Formats: sequence, structure tokens, C-alpha cells
Amino acid sequence: MGLLTLADHVHDIVENAIKAGARNVKLTINETEEFFLFCVEDDGPGIENVEKVFDPFYTTRPKKIRKVGLGLSFLKQATEATGGFVKISSKVGKGTKVTAKFIKKHIDCQPVGDLVSVFFSLLMNQNVNFRIIRCRSGNCYDLDSETVKKYLGNIDSPSKLKILKELIKEMEQSLKEE
Ligand SMILES: Nc1ncnc2c1ncn2[C@@H]1O[C@H](COP(=O)(O)OP(=O)(O)OP(=O)(O)O)[C@@H](O)[C@H]1O
Ligand SMILES: [Mg+2]
Repeated sequence: MGLLTLADHVHDIVENAIKAGARNVKLTINETEEFFLFCVEDDGPGIENVEKVFDPFYTTRPKKIRKVGLGLSFLKQATEATGGFVKISSKVGKGTKVTAKFIKKHIDCQPVGDLVSVFFSLLMNQNVNFRIIRCRSGNCYDLDSETVKKYLGNIDSPSKLKILKELIKEMEQSLKEE
């Protein structure tokens, strides 16, 4: 995992929720000229050692190739390098909430990257219920797995994949034009 863009971080934190076994994940992204704020809330098992999760190489997952436990510690470094922060709150048996803020104007802020591809790869996974709320300078769209399912049914063909990607692209585009 490269974690070269803010979109990579978003994807990585949502992946944590999925790997932990969450059924419902809410992703909120609030972006302005000044900052990029994202929040991932899940209903997974929660974390017992919250104070440990920012330690490099802390992981509860069986070691596989590339499973190294660096996601949250990289996120912490990347946010703080811009004057931002990351906060995590978790209740065992209830779920976890991760909030991260980047100050975009800071010279060390990573580029925003390809959010459309991140949203697309999340919504393609129909085993988890996602709700994505994306705002840019006060304009927002709200997209969820249920709505996608209602309109497209099971995403089981290349043409449906294409429609889904176009839909997300258009919604993202509409934020720029308004
Ligand atoms: N949403 C979550 N729900 C439950 N546990 C979590 C969640 N997010 C992180 N954790 C716990 O924190 C640990 C550290 O997370 P982190 O993202 O830093 O590393 P990792 O996911 O184990 O490995 P990597 O991100 O490098 O692939 C995880 O192994 C997991 O135990
Ligand atoms: Mg991780």
C-alpha cells in the first residue's frame, strides 16, 4: 500500500473497518480550500488497545505479506506533518470512529488523489453496507450501498460496473461545477 495520496489513506482506514468485520461503514469527507477532513465510522468489534494503534508495526492481524501494521501510524504522521490531526475513538462491541484532518495548504500535504476510484471499489463490494457523504466547499452528495443496490441490483456485469463508475464520476464532477 503506497499511501501516497489522501484518497489512499481514506481507502486504508475503510479497509481496517472491513477487515475488522464491520457490516456498516459510514465515510464522511468534508473538503474546503483549506482542509480535507475525513471520518470513518464502523460497527465492527471495536479496539481494546486504542492507545497502541498508532504504534508502528502494531497489528492484531496474522502476518501476511504486506500486513505490517503501519496504516494508522502513517496516517498520524501524514496528518501531523500538515498541522492536522488524527483521532480515534472505539468501544469494544460497538465500533470505531477515526477522524483525520489534513491542512491542504501546507507544503507537506499529500495530493488528494483519486477519490472516485476509492468510492467505486468500496461500493463494488456488496458484502458491506457503505454510506458515503462527500462535501466540497459546502456542496455535498450522499451515496449508499442500498441506493446502488436499488438501482443496479447485484453488480455482476461489466456494464453495471461502468454505470456505477460513471455515476460516481458525475456526482464528483457536479461538486466542481457548482
Ligand atoms: N476499524 C477498526 N476496527 C477494529 N480494529 C481496528 C480498526 N482499525 C484498526 N484496528 C486495529 O488497529 C491495528 C492497527 O491498524 P493499522 O491500520 O495501523 O495496521 P494494520 O491494518 O494491522 O496493517 P496495515 O494497515 O499496515 O495493513 C489493526 O491491526 C487492528 O487491530
Ligand atoms: Mg490498516
